[in-house]
Amino acid sequence: MAQRIAVVSGGMGGIGEAICIKLADAGHKVVTTYSPGNTRSGEWLAGMKSKGYTFYAYQVDVTDFDSCQKAVAEIQSEVGPIDILVNNAGITKDASFRKMGKTDWDAVMRTNLDSVFNMAKPICDGMAERGWGRVINISSVNGQKGAFGQTNYSAAKAGMHGFTKALALEYARKNVTVNTVSPGYIATKMVLAVPKEVLESKILPQIPLGRLGKPEEVGALVAFLCSEDAGYFTGANLAMNGGQHMY
Ligand code: CAA
Ligand code: NAP
Repeated sequence: MAQRIAVVSGGMGGIGEAICIKLADAGHKVVTTYSPGNTRSGEWLAGMKSKGYTFYAYQVDVTDFDSCQKAVAEIQSEVGPIDILVNNAGITKDASFRKMGKTDWDAVMRTNLDSVFNMAKPICDGMAERGWGRVINISSVNGQKGAFGQTNYSAAKAGMHGFTKALALEYARKNVTVNTVSPGYIATKMVLAVPKEVLESKILPQIPLGRLGKPEEVGALVAFLCSEDAGYFTGANLAMNGGQHMY
């Protein structure tokens, strides 16, 4: 199995960490990004090292095109050419549309959607030149079905999949595949920020499997999509949501 160089944005978060671990378990060299506001990057890297994982880490603000360009240039010169990009960084700013302000709309669009352009732009042409690449965009069940209180997030996450399909078409002839993974509610701090009463009375009852998903379940799917065996998937949106949304 070929060792690839993978970049995971937001790899120190709940799902990102699991993706980093599964990609490392698959034999890849893994680079994570962390945000300028992250004060625990050293601690996280040390914790991973104590578990046997050595990751590279670069500070990036995914909302900022120049920050992404600069970090990608550093990664390519210090670690090597990037074969796998996982666009995982994301945020929520939930409010009913009636209460949603422009600031919360902009923050969510920039972090979840602009980020995908910002990270893919400096990376994809190199993949094409080398004739192999994987881009995985982490969307959400709420980009597929909509969610009360998430006009911003649902729009950004649905937009990610439009981007996936167009990019997949453009790069297919260069053997670069582009796919979306749309998880349902996964047990990370993002979901734990939902008011407990809302989670228990409105969300969990909609999930036929009756539980939140695990970050490692998402990580395993991403690692599979990055493997040689997944080479015929492109432009796909893979749902993993405990049955909450079937289509
Ligand atoms: N369905 C139907 N009605 C709902 C509702 C829902 N899910 N949530 C709230 N409402 C109703 C309330 O019952 C209330 O009705 P009345 O006015 O008739 O009493 C009304 O909406 C309240 O509206 P407000 O504008 O006052 O809303 P709020 O300030 O109480 O907060 C909310 C609303 C921000 C949406 C809050 O309910 C919330 O945080 N919901 C969770 C949203 C959610 O699922 N976020 C997912 C986060 S995790 C994630 O995003 C990861 C992923 O990809 C899956
Ligand atoms: P999380 O633990 O909050 O992780 C989010 C990550 O995004 C953090 O690691 C954070 O980096 C990074 N990030 C946020 N803003 C950034 C910025 N401006 N620049 C760089 N990095 C930034 O949440 P999670 O649950 O793991 O979510 C990961 C992804 O999965 C998100 O895209 C989310 O929308 C999606 N998702 C989550 C769920 C779920 O139920 N949890 C379901 C479907 C989809 P730092 O830690 O360095 O600050």
